[in-house]
Amino acid sequence: MPRADGGLLAELLQRGVSRRSFVKFCAAMTATLALPASYTPRIVAAVAAAPRVPVIWIRGQGCGGDGEALLRVVNPTISEFLLQFLSIDYLETLMVPSGSDASATLEAILAKHRDGYLAIVEGSVPTADRGAWWTVGGRPIREVIREVSAGAIGTIAVGSCAFDGGLSAAAGAASGAVGVGQVVQGRLVSLPGCPVNPWNLGATIIHFLTFKELPATDAGGRPLFAYGPLIHNECERRAHFEFGEFVQAWGDEGAQKGWCLYRMGCKGPQTFANCASVGFDAGTSWPIKAGAVCIGCTMPAFWDSMSPFSRRLPSPVPFFPDVTVDQVGQVAVAGIAGVAGLHAVGSYIRAKRQGAERRKRALAPPVPAAVPVPEAAPAAEPVAVPEPAAAPAPAEPPNEAEPAAEPPSVAEPAAQPAPAEPPAPAEPPVPRTAAPDIEPRPADGGER
Ligand code: SF4
Ligand code: F3S
Repeated sequence: MPRADGGLLAELLQRGVSRRSFVKFCAAMTATLALPASYTPRIVAAVAAAPRVPVIWIRGQGCGGDGEALLRVVNPTISEFLLQFLSIDYLETLMVPSGSDASATLEAILAKHRDGYLAIVEGSVPTADRGAWWTVGGRPIREVIREVSAGAIGTIAVGSCAFDGGLSAAAGAASGAVGVGQVVQGRLVSLPGCPVNPWNLGATIIHFLTFKELPATDAGGRPLFAYGPLIHNECERRAHFEFGEFVQAWGDEGAQKGWCLYRMGCKGPQTFANCASVGFDAGTSWPIKAGAVCIGCTMPAFWDSMSPFSRRLPSPVPFFPDVTVDQVGQVAVAGIAGVAGLHAVGSYIRAKRQGAERRKRALAPPVPAAVPVPEAAPAAEPVAVPEPAAAPAPAEPPNEAEPAAEPPSVAEPAAQPAPAEPPAPAEPPVPRTAAPDIEPRPADGGER
């Protein structure tokens, strides 16, 4: 990225911006980023030394309100600073060239900033009819966005249309509009809102200058610092909600007293954004402070999912109009947690019981080993017994210690074991070679 000599602060001082207002601006950005005040010096140092960031701002299918939101704020502080920080080289809203001349300008700027720039895209991307619904110089905007984003160090999609198609993708729309995230590869953050809050755009760029990366986002690519808070939780009319003080009709006593707009259709309980804490027009106001309901413009597909804007969304639980989707979700999560807890307790008790049984078995006296019961010998085995005739005659008289006292039934040596009756398996087999032992011995023990 090109670097300005002396950094941004030197350039701002040259342009008449005081050091005090610069530090004040950085402190406000620190708060917008939901960082502790102790981060302010770090942000001041980083931004003061940062280069002026080249920006290519592409306008897709939409009303152009996001560019207007940046350029036409009543209090010019944020736009002044952003325009000093940024070198917006391409923004069709402000450019003289159009059509093919605009395309030629864009090519020249891309060639000039080959080492990096920031891409900002507002508006949706039509996909029907090969993108003919929104073209620049005859090229579908989808191709232009892809080309610009490919060479960018980061892409920021501003406004609800760039987030998910917005109004162009609402029920009945025909252009097949999608958000920028569906056509761009690489690092992208989305800042939905109708229009985008310029403070959030400024804070995102300050985060980039300070930490050299885009801020952490939720699953939808929205920075957590800006789209984490629930509007209902930060709303200045929340106390009236708790006390049951509601505006019942426009202009009634409750409306004049600033009571809660819940019954007028406020979607603050379903909407995540930092509008209440950051505000618009340098924090002077925001929709609910001005007396209007929140229509949930930072939420996905809000034109369909949050309408009718002037009525409460139907309750997800019949006959309980005040039960919200969040509460249903909390009950469901609690139920699942309860079942998981019961399962865990049951598993614990079962494991304990099994352990106790194992210990009990280990302490019990050993049971005598059961005498192994040999399997019945197959009927074919006896066939392997050698014939007595083949037995060699012993050279010496047999040892008397030998189990001569337990002669097998040898009275009939000639009798061959019946193949059908295998020897009793509990007794060791007696080799037929011992046949001479079993003959009657002379009484004197002499040789025969
Ligand atoms: Fe919640 Fe809306 Fe009432 Fe504010 S006005 S407390 S956001 S319901
Ligand atoms: Fe939009 Fe509601 Fe904020 S309407 S601007 S999200 S208060």
